[in-house]
Formats: sequence, C-alpha cells, structure tokens
Amino acid sequence: MTIHFIGAGPGAPDLLTLRGRDLIAACPVCLYAGSLVPEEILGHCPPDARIMNTASMDLDSIIAEMQRAHAAGQDVARLHSGDLSVWSAMGEQLRRLRALGIPVSVTPGVPSFAAAAASLGAELTLPGLAQSVVLTRTPGRASSMPEGETLANFAATGATLAIHLSIQNLMHVTDSLTPSYGGDCPVAVVYRASWPDERIIRGTLADIAGRVDEGITRTALILVGPALGGEGFTESCLYSADYDRRYRPQTADSPWASWSHGDD
Ligand SMILES: C[S@@+](CC[C@H](N)C(=O)[O-])C[C@H]1O[C@@H](n2cnc3c(N)ncnc32)[C@H](O)[C@@H]1O
Repeated sequence: MTIHFIGAGPGAPDLLTLRGRDLIAACPVCLYAGSLVPEEILGHCPPDARIMNTASMDLDSIIAEMQRAHAAGQDVARLHSGDLSVWSAMGEQLRRLRALGIPVSVTPGVPSFAAAAASLGAELTLPGLAQSVVLTRTPGRASSMPEGETLANFAATGATLAIHLSIQNLMHVTDSLTPSYGGDCPVAVVYRASWPDERIIRGTLADIAGRVDEGITRTALILVGPALGGEGFTESCLYSADYDRRYRPQTADSPWASWSHGDD
C-alpha cells in the first residue's frame, strides 16, 4: 500500500488533476488538511471511506493513522490545499514515512498563486517588467524566516512577489517593499481565489492597506510588482514575426531550418 500525497488545488473542486481525482476514488482512507479542501473533492472518496480532517491532529497522530492503514493493507489519499511543493508540511511527513519504509507517491496540484493570477487575468512575468516570481511569506507564530529571506531583499530584485500567509501583516509588507518598488507599485490582494466567495482588491503599495477590509484575515495572497499593472511591457520574441526560431525559421540558412524539416 502507498500514501498518496495529492495537491487538492486552491478551492474550486474542478481545479483538481484527473490523477488526483482517480487516486482519491481508489483509496479507502482519506486524510485531508483542514478547511481549505472543499467538500466536493471529498465526494470523490469511495462511499465507505474512512475520512479524517487532520486540522486538529499532531504529526505523531497523523503518522499513526498512516501506519495503521499501512498495516491493514490500505492505500491512503493525503490531501493538502494547492500544490504540495510549498507550505504543505509534506516534507516532515515524507521524512517519517521514508524512515518507516512506507511507500509514498506525490501528485501535484494547482497552487494558489496560479489560481490568483488566473483570477486577475494576469501574467506575472511580463517582458521588460519582471521575469521572476518569488513565492514567499512573512514570519508567523509557528514559522520564522531563514536569515536573508527578507521582503526587502526580494524587493531589491524587482521581481513579482507572491506573498503567502501574510495578509495579517499587510502593513509590514507595504512598509518593507515601498523603498524598493515605490508607493505607486501595483498590488493585488486575492482572497480565496477560485472559491465562490473570492474577492479581488487592487491598489498600490501606498493605498492597499486602506482598501483591504477587516473581513479579510486569512486565505489571501498579496501579489506585488510592476507586472501587476499589466502595462508598459514589451512583446516577447516568441510570436514576433521576424524572430528566427525552431518552429518558425526565417531563412533557408537558419540554424533551425534543417531541424524543422525533421532532421533533429
Ligand atoms: C498553508 S499555505 C498553503 C499553500 C498551498 N500549498 C499552495 O500551493 O498555494 C496557505 C496560504 O496559501 C494562500 N492560499 C491558499 N489558498 C488560497 C486561495 N484559494 N486564495 C488565495 N490564497 C490562498 C494564502 O496565502 C494562505 O495563507
């Protein structure tokens, strides 16, 4: 048997991979992480599945449930919101399970920053404005930040920042970023991206704190950077009519000409 870690996506139940859905349907045990996994996704579990919300469990109890399922020869669907590669606490579970010799698999999910960008209708890497996206957070009660991973340091790069787990620190975020980006830098706060009660608040570093109301206390992303403005960028070479490239060689002498005829 295997513990299948599955990214359950940002909220909308149809933002789940087909692989994730099929694994959930095949597992007699499902452990899911708290309120960010919608009921509809749990609806893919078999009718008689043992389904547990792990929000109130500690790591020892979660691993004990997995060991129990393993001993009974049962596969487990382990659901975390968004994708598993960021802030999922998958790492500590994998380490324990590997030490116990329990097999695991990992199925990615749609991360919340991608869902938020989709809701904004925004590309976060606009040519000439930003070519990097930094997924980061501010320190919380349970998590300190490694030295050097400060907002000010990331801001110095000018990249688009996708700041998680930080809506309650919005003033700290704007104060830290304003010296590098300037007060007129575009900001978008996306609350519960892809959920029915999603909200989008747009502004600048100077005014966003005043625009976000007290109802938005968690499950929000703060996206910051010139690319959020969606203006003043150059067009990419990708679709430029005169750009010589593998799929569209411009002359017979192009290094791509022979490749495009099937020689590569
Ligand atoms: C514990 S982290 C989980 C991140 C998740 N693994 C992912 O791939 O996005 C929770 C934080 O992710 C962000 N988040 C998760 N789901 C979100 C959503 N639907 N809309 C906006 N932000 C979301 C918020 O910043 C929230 O505080």
